[in-house]
Amino acid sequence: MNPEDTLQQAQERIGACADPAALKEIEREYVGKKGIVAAMLAEIPKLAADQRKAHGQKANALKRSILELLALRQQTFESGKLDTARRAEGFDPTLPPPPANRGSLHPITQVTRELEDLFISMGYEVLDGPEVELDHYNFEALNITKDHPARDSQDTFYCDKEGRLVLRTHTSPVQIRAMENREPPFRVIAPGRVFRNETTDASHDHTFYQMEGLVVGRDISVAHLIGAMKTLLRGIFGRDLDVRLRPGHFPFVEPGFELDARCPFCKSGCSVCKRTTWIELLPCGLIHPNVLRAGGVDPEKWSGFAFGLGLSRLVMLRHAIDDVRHLLDGDLRFLEQF
Ligand code: PHE
Repeated sequence: MNPEDTLQQAQERIGACADPAALKEIEREYVGKKGIVAAMLAEIPKLAADQRKAHGQKANALKRSILELLALRQQTFESGKLDTARRAEGFDPTLPPPPANRGSLHPITQVTRELEDLFISMGYEVLDGPEVELDHYNFEALNITKDHPARDSQDTFYCDKEGRLVLRTHTSPVQIRAMENREPPFRVIAPGRVFRNETTDASHDHTFYQMEGLVVGRDISVAHLIGAMKTLLRGIFGRDLDVRLRPGHFPFVEPGFELDARCPFCKSGCSVCKRTTWIELLPCGLIHPNVLRAGGVDPEKWSGFAFGLGLSRLVMLRHAIDDVRHLLDGDLRFLEQF
């Protein structure tokens, strides 16, 4: 058979061949050690000298063509295997993909961002502070000395043997850091995470969120403070909420106040409001002169007010959440609601 016919025949057989084993057999027959191409090459020495070259070239060209056909067919076997596997698994590549699982912003993040916008619009600067804080900033500079009873109500987690490093119990240390780094007058807020070493219940967690506010300027008075707090509450609730102002003691303010909001869950007392019908929301006051001094600000020239908004508590109020621990336990059934 001449090389052209051999090639055609091989092509037909390769095309018709049903499985990889049969293909191997065809390969052996044509291009194997004892195959047709090998036989053609073996004829060369018997040929006349002027025919040898052309004959050899034809044999090699035939071999290349057959190997190519074999490789192509082998490929169709492999992709065919994949198709069958896909069909068997019920995989349909033409279907649209399932919708991606998208997360949402945590309700505390949502409230923080809203408040940042509100305060930025009133000319405040947004500050950050370290969560692992020096005892100096968390207590001493805020007029809370080593033996001060306020240390009991804000027991913390100490991070070193000397008791110099603590997890901050409030965002108030940022007050001192802010004063150290800028010249009055200025207004800042500092939202963030704080920690307390305490037994948890529906309204206490060891980790929660606050937002500090600090305004330093000339002749700042309680009237400025009350005005700012009213604006803040209107911004949060979109309406005037039933609130009360009563004296409160914090060593870093003088005078100091507690601004309470009516409990939204009950009329006669529940576990969230500790049966008082009021929820503590906004401790505040005028900055104590010792604190101004600790921040390098002259209390003879400057005065100011500070407040510490309970962000976790605010989120609970807004969404009628009855247990503060839901906020951080990471349960998707809770988080997907926001
Ligand atoms: N830092 C105080 C607390 O966590 C709250 C506070 C802040 C009070 C600012 C007065 C002024 O309890």
